[in-house]
Amino acid sequence: MFHGLYLYWKSFVWPLLIVGLASAEVCDENSQYQCEEYGKCIPIMDRCNGTPDCKYGSDESFAECKAHLNDSVADMFYCASGILMIDEQLCNNVRDCPDGSDELPQLCEYEPFGLKFKDLNIQGKCRSSEIECLPGECVPKNKKCDGRIDCSNGRDESLELCLDSCRDCFKCANGVAINSELVCDNKIDCLDGSDELRNVCQGNSKSWIETLPAICIEPPDGKHRFTDNTIFHMRKETRFVYPNQPAELQCQSNNQTAWNVCMKDGSWNRELPSCTTMPKIVNRNPDTNGTNGCRMDWYNNETMIIYRLQESDQTKPIVPPITVGEVRFGCEYGNTFLPHIYEGSSLFCDFEETWNWSQENFNPRCTKLCRLEDLNIINSLTPTCLNSKDGSKFNCDDEYSLIPYTTVKFGCTEGFKRLTDNEYSVTCNENGIWEGLQELCLKQDKLCTYECGRNEATMFSANGVSTNSHHASWVVPIYTNPNDTQYSFACAGNLIELNIVLTAGHCVYGLKAGQIRVGHTGNRSQTIHESFYVVKHAESYQGYYPTHPYHDVGIIILDKRIRLRQDLHVVCLPYYSPTPLNLDQSFSNVLSWSADGYLMSVTGAITEPINKTGDVTINLSSNGKLCPGDSGAGLIVSCRTSVLQSDQCLVGVVSRALRPGEHGTMCSGEVIAASITGVYIQAWIEEVKNSFSRCSIS
Ligand SMILES: *[C@@H]1O[C@H](CO)[C@@H](O)[C@H](O)[C@H]1NC(C)=O
Ligand SMILES: *[C@@H]1O[C@H](CO)[C@@H](O)[C@H](O)[C@H]1NC(C)=O
Ligand SMILES: *[C@@H]1O[C@H](CO)[C@@H](O)[C@H](O)[C@H]1NC(C)=O
Ligand SMILES: *[C@@H]1O[C@H](CO)[C@@H](O)[C@H](O)[C@H]1NC(C)=O
Ligand SMILES: *[C@@H]1O[C@H](CO)[C@@H](O)[C@H](O)[C@H]1NC(C)=O
Ligand SMILES: *[C@@H]1O[C@H](CO)[C@@H](O)[C@H](O)[C@H]1NC(C)=O
Ligand SMILES: *[C@@H]1O[C@H](CO)[C@@H](O)[C@H](O)[C@H]1NC(C)=O
Ligand SMILES: *[C@@H]1O[C@H](CO)[C@@H](O)[C@H](O)[C@H]1NC(C)=O
Repeated sequence: MFHGLYLYWKSFVWPLLIVGLASAEVCDENSQYQCEEYGKCIPIMDRCNGTPDCKYGSDESFAECKAHLNDSVADMFYCASGILMIDEQLCNNVRDCPDGSDELPQLCEYEPFGLKFKDLNIQGKCRSSEIECLPGECVPKNKKCDGRIDCSNGRDESLELCLDSCRDCFKCANGVAINSELVCDNKIDCLDGSDELRNVCQGNSKSWIETLPAICIEPPDGKHRFTDNTIFHMRKETRFVYPNQPAELQCQSNNQTAWNVCMKDGSWNRELPSCTTMPKIVNRNPDTNGTNGCRMDWYNNETMIIYRLQESDQTKPIVPPITVGEVRFGCEYGNTFLPHIYEGSSLFCDFEETWNWSQENFNPRCTKLCRLEDLNIINSLTPTCLNSKDGSKFNCDDEYSLIPYTTVKFGCTEGFKRLTDNEYSVTCNENGIWEGLQELCLKQDKLCTYECGRNEATMFSANGVSTNSHHASWVVPIYTNPNDTQYSFACAGNLIELNIVLTAGHCVYGLKAGQIRVGHTGNRSQTIHESFYVVKHAESYQGYYPTHPYHDVGIIILDKRIRLRQDLHVVCLPYYSPTPLNLDQSFSNVLSWSADGYLMSVTGAITEPINKTGDVTINLSSNGKLCPGDSGAGLIVSCRTSVLQSDQCLVGVVSRALRPGEHGTMCSGEVIAASITGVYIQAWIEEVKNSFSRCSIS
């Protein structure tokens, strides 16, 4: 009856297990299976029979039992974990599969003799458009079984919710059916990696190369432990879970718990809790705990200086206990007095030895603070500050709240999209340093990326009619002040990141950063406003000179990021396109401003000259014209930024007219633009970008 199972046991080896298992029994490989946990031998018939015989059930795990569909046997079916069951066990109101997959409604709904399955309580206390992960934790329903783990405990990708009802299809161990071509193709498609397991693939695919299944081990740092809610496996002394399995981890220091899910590469889905929280202060010093004088739990003789005002020598510091009278506090250099509103004020310790005129629980303190500017160096991430006492949110802009043990969580800044489900946080330490911030800054590109282009199929106007600024939210006006007299509008620019503008080289050539300002997206105004963006750095491409006007590209780095609304985007660059762009004869939009300041677009055909100077010409259609103020305007062509996504890419910037302007208007229908598709220009843009995305925290 279990004939199907003998197909693969012979080739079965556990390299990790057999090496170095001093006390392990030697199993008879023809008739016995060796438990992963402690090397115990069990009869081979007990392996994958639905009943755990090894201490932590290694003989029944999906990593051990998952089978290839071609091994299927008449009148039998496989549990999602690969255990073979007889058809009568399917939907018979008895949970026969250890993973319960034989009784899940998705399958039983279609069984003629199926049970009256009980409705899965997906919604819980959440709204009808949501599923409940853990009590009170809700995620939108459309995140269910989408191949990304959203619930902290992974319920949205669990077998319970994802089991597919198809019968003779390959299902991942979480029940998601995948195309048979994806099985054993050396690429992990199942969240749990079950499409590339040895028992599934060996002998079933010629080109398959074995890699051992990934595992997530209980963190060896000793700070985090699996709780009793975690169903873990064990190999020798090491406790672990397989991919897509949840684990609840607990901090040893403060008993804080958090769910996590193992990822297919053996990493954790979320950052592990930092386990650093504020130590409980129990003040047993009668001089400062309110017994002998006014209360000052944070008193530290190294940082705090106290003067008594009635004293004859007011410059001579005193030490606790502070009895009745008026005092003033000072802090040693580098420390800040809290509560900040009382800095420098005189405070009165009254006859009852309580601080007068002050808020409840007033406790003077001198402390290092972490710096708000440091949080803002990570362009792509936006901080959320959490109170060290109760984890409640507060506004990070309140610099006096950034005290030691404050935790800051990060999410992607508006205009960026998440690349990972992981959450990241940093904690302020006693020295006023954000711990982990530098590392986070260095890996920010892996967490969030600019969402560029990505507007609904845009209908640009064809011949210089104004267009909705939402259709090109990356276009900004550039103002210059070459004679240090006053700023005036000079050129158009294109946001490639929220603080980086590409324009024509001649727009910034020879100018200092202070002689340039960048306006808001949308409409151009004639005059500059207070709120316009200050420029930190500007340069033109090394190959550009006014006397040699090829490669007329300039870059501007803003002092701070432009705020884009959620539906607005920076423009895509063509460098990440999976198919190379051929500009020649392609049709492009050029976006700039009309004379009265509205966003406009003209279209034209691009020609790449044979001698490849890096310049292209554009022949505008429908009498479209570009004028001097259109220098730097972007050439936008449609491009693919990924296999699926069609976007708009910036491929060049308007440089100059092909011939002198007609009728003295200085406007032309045939213009030359500098292409930015070349590798040298790309390398230069990257270099300038990188030199201004500093991660070094002072
Ligand atoms: C598995 O079954 C499919 C369909 O029946 C067949 O095309 C394929 O050759 C089989 N593979 C093996 C390894 O037997
Ligand atoms: C953590 O929980 C254990 C058991 O409940 C308890 O003994 C211990 O004191 C707790 N530790 C902290 C830091 O709260
Ligand atoms: C302050 O410390 C003393 C000595 O340890 C103790 O007796 C007293 O109860 C403490 N007072 C308060 C208010 O905690
Ligand atoms: C602070 O108090 C400690 C312990 O009483 C003493 O050793 C140290 O010298 C004091 N420091 C200052 C600056 O007074
Ligand atoms: C700046 O000064 C130069 C030379 O004095 C002059 O030619 C130019 O027109 C001035 N530019 C502006 C914008 O005033
Ligand atoms: C730009 O001007 C147009 C036309 O007056 C107006 O509809 C639009 O709201 C303006 N956009 C912005 C961002 O000011
Ligand atoms: C490229 O060709 C154009 C005309 O075809 C010519 O005017 C220009 O000087 C050439 N540029 C270079 C760098 O050779
Ligand atoms: C521009 O287009 C017009 C009409 O489409 C054509 O007559 C002209 O030759 C073109 N110019 C160039 C430089 O291609």
